[in-house]
Amino acid sequence: MPRVPAPLAAAASAAVATCLTERLRRRRTRQVIADARARIAAALASVPTAEQAREDAAVALLLDRPEPGWLEGATPVTDGVHARLQPGDAAAVLERMESFEAELHASAEEPARRRLVLNFAAAYGVAPVLERSGLLGAMPPEDVHAMARGSVAAGGDFFTADLIFDALEHAGMAVGEGATLLDFGASSGRVLRAIAAGRPDLECLGCDPNAGTIAWAAEHLPMARFFVSPQRPPLALADASVQIAVAVSIWSHFAEEPAVAWLAELHRVLAPGGALVLTTQAFDSLSTLLRRGHVSPGTATAAAAAMVEGRHHFVDVFGPEGDWGVKDAGWGDAYFTLEWLLGRTGDDWAVRLNWPGALDQAQDVVVLERR
Ligand SMILES: C[S@@+](CC[C@H](N)C(=O)[O-])C[C@H]1O[C@@H](n2cnc3c(N)ncnc32)[C@H](O)[C@@H]1O
Repeated sequence: MPRVPAPLAAAASAAVATCLTERLRRRRTRQVIADARARIAAALASVPTAEQAREDAAVALLLDRPEPGWLEGATPVTDGVHARLQPGDAAAVLERMESFEAELHASAEEPARRRLVLNFAAAYGVAPVLERSGLLGAMPPEDVHAMARGSVAAGGDFFTADLIFDALEHAGMAVGEGATLLDFGASSGRVLRAIAAGRPDLECLGCDPNAGTIAWAAEHLPMARFFVSPQRPPLALADASVQIAVAVSIWSHFAEEPAVAWLAELHRVLAPGGALVLTTQAFDSLSTLLRRGHVSPGTATAAAAAMVEGRHHFVDVFGPEGDWGVKDAGWGDAYFTLEWLLGRTGDDWAVRLNWPGALDQAQDVVVLERR
């Protein structure tokens, strides 16, 4: 074997060593770069996008908003019914109660207790009390739209009826003797039947596009005249023929176009100086719905942003099935401020009262005077 001269061998082994060192160095460099990339990716993943940061801020602001209290004011409608009861009537109702109702009544405070007596009188069909009070026991069956069911809802919703009449009194628009009152979007008469029982002097009208619901109400609730209304104006009512209109959870569903069109139509049917009590969803509704998990952070953010920017926000929540069969692309969930609504109606209305979050700690209760 030929011998390699010593200097050459040394040079060759130095070259091999350099080559190995260089490879090792490159491999280490690649590793350092890979590690750095992984760390940067992990760090970037925890940095919120601008959209996420906006949503986090909106949700935090809405959740920080103080929860609206349960408004418990005057009880003019409940008082109207109780005024016709005789001593011993409440006791007669209590005697008939089963344990669930008895426990509920015992744990309730006034004025909820007095309302429960009326509900349970209707639920148990306590005849002398029903005769004197004007309450009826009929309850909508499961296939008829109703916002509440069961013994606590029997006979009507006195809580909401009281809230409406209390708001009207606070607004300086107490309901005059014999006035005509329209419940716009009355469903199966939950609120209207309570109003009619507390104020039998009024001429009560109720309308709703849900024909099945109106058919049930017309058959079972003779204290009011119910009629099917169209999904867009006009109503089959003469100009200035109504003194008071109430709309509970109706504008909270209208898209922009019907919201404005129906406000103009109620202006037509209300007499000058008449009142419209409506409920709407603004910031208090969003906070409460978010707390209760009834609205997504994304929807809450979009709705809050729209209201801050003076816009209306609409979400199509019912889809092609409609709301209990009432199909309308302009009927879903709506969020807007009173300023947005009134900004579209010129000088047609004067705001007489605005109680934010007063309905179920969510919707605002608004009283407008028809100019
Ligand atoms: C959330 S419920 C409220 C019902 C009733 N105001 C109450 O508080 O028990 C909404 C009602 O509005 C009705 N509705 C749907 N579209 C309407 C429209 N264009 N005009 C009036 N009411 C409508 C529905 O059929 C439903 O009965």
